[in-house]
Amino acid sequence: MINSLLLFNFRNFSKKQFKFSPEISVIIAPNASGKTNILEAIYLTSTGKSFKAFKENEMIKEGEDLARIDSKTTNVDLEVLISKIEFRKRLRVNGVNKRLVDFSGNFKAVLFGPWDLDLVTHQPSLRRNFLDMVLSQVDREYRRCLLSYEKGVRNRNKLLFRIREEGVSPSQLLFWNQLLIKNGDFLTKKREEFIEYANNYIPLDGQVFSLEYDKSVISEARLETYKNQEIAACTTLVGPHRDDFKFVKDGKDLSIFGSRGEQRMGVLWIKLCELSYVKSMTFQNPTLLLDDIFSELDSAHRELVMKNSSGLQVIITTSEPHYVPEFKGVEKIELGG
Ligand SMILES: Nc1ncnc2c1ncn2[C@@H]1O[C@H](COP(=O)(O)OP(=O)(O)O)[C@@H](O)[C@H]1O
Ligand SMILES: [Mg+2]
Repeated sequence: MINSLLLFNFRNFSKKQFKFSPEISVIIAPNASGKTNILEAIYLTSTGKSFKAFKENEMIKEGEDLARIDSKTTNVDLEVLISKIEFRKRLRVNGVNKRLVDFSGNFKAVLFGPWDLDLVTHQPSLRRNFLDMVLSQVDREYRRCLLSYEKGVRNRNKLLFRIREEGVSPSQLLFWNQLLIKNGDFLTKKREEFIEYANNYIPLDGQVFSLEYDKSVISEARLETYKNQEIAACTTLVGPHRDDFKFVKDGKDLSIFGSRGEQRMGVLWIKLCELSYVKSMTFQNPTLLLDDIFSELDSAHRELVMKNSSGLQVIITTSEPHYVPEFKGVEKIELGG
């Protein structure tokens, strides 16, 4: 649970402190006043990464050199520093510098925003990111394998380029192949486990959704099959970085046959599933961050979200205060000045 947050030169905030209720906090403010930025900062202290920044230093307030985010959670104090000059990013737990893999996951949060509504229909990288976010949240070994795998793919691609352009021996691929197979297998296995969990998860409003894993297996044999193509393209063509999954309802591909409403329900279902998965795998209650999502849902589905989050700390942002009175005992945070 997060008790307080201090932003210093972060996005549009020079210096601002927030205190959160252990139950429901609602941040009410007009558009472009920094609501999403606050949730970005909170999520950053959970995962060590921004969910939306293209370059990390875009989070530093315009005209400044250093941004700092301090959050006090029930268990630990978390600190993120982003600098344009001395270093790029520093992550600290209780004042001690940590690597990303050890910083992430100290404070658990599940984030749900309007951009998630594209999960069913948009490009595969969104769905892979989703799997990585969920699994990284609950499993340190997944985080470690993912970082090592991603770095391995980048290095292997560089080597493929050198094989093609500089006549370097293809036998050098062996080292990277083994590294990718070892880490990639683990990623695949964990992704399979989550998809299996989802497929046993409760239906939503009587609608039964499921996921179908479209996995890109990585193995010696497959890498051998694609070797020449890979050298020609200077790109690693098989492995979990090429995975995808489909949403299925009534035996049909939701992205093709679903109505817009059904696709939204599919997203709501998977987000509730994520919440349940994080709870059951970590035996901890994640904080639920809802960014302007209520204006996107009808009242029955707003209720469904609130029902599924009972007992959790919830932080909601909205520009439309008329949604707020629906919940009792909420702490309102107005942004101003
Ligand atoms: N690095 C930055 N420095 C200063 N302002 C920024 C920076 N990054 C974003 N902003 C400002 O933050 C505002 C948007 O904040 P956002 O959290 O998306 O608002 P909301 O969610 O309330 O609509 C914009 O006015 C934008 O110019
Ligand atoms: Mg916003």
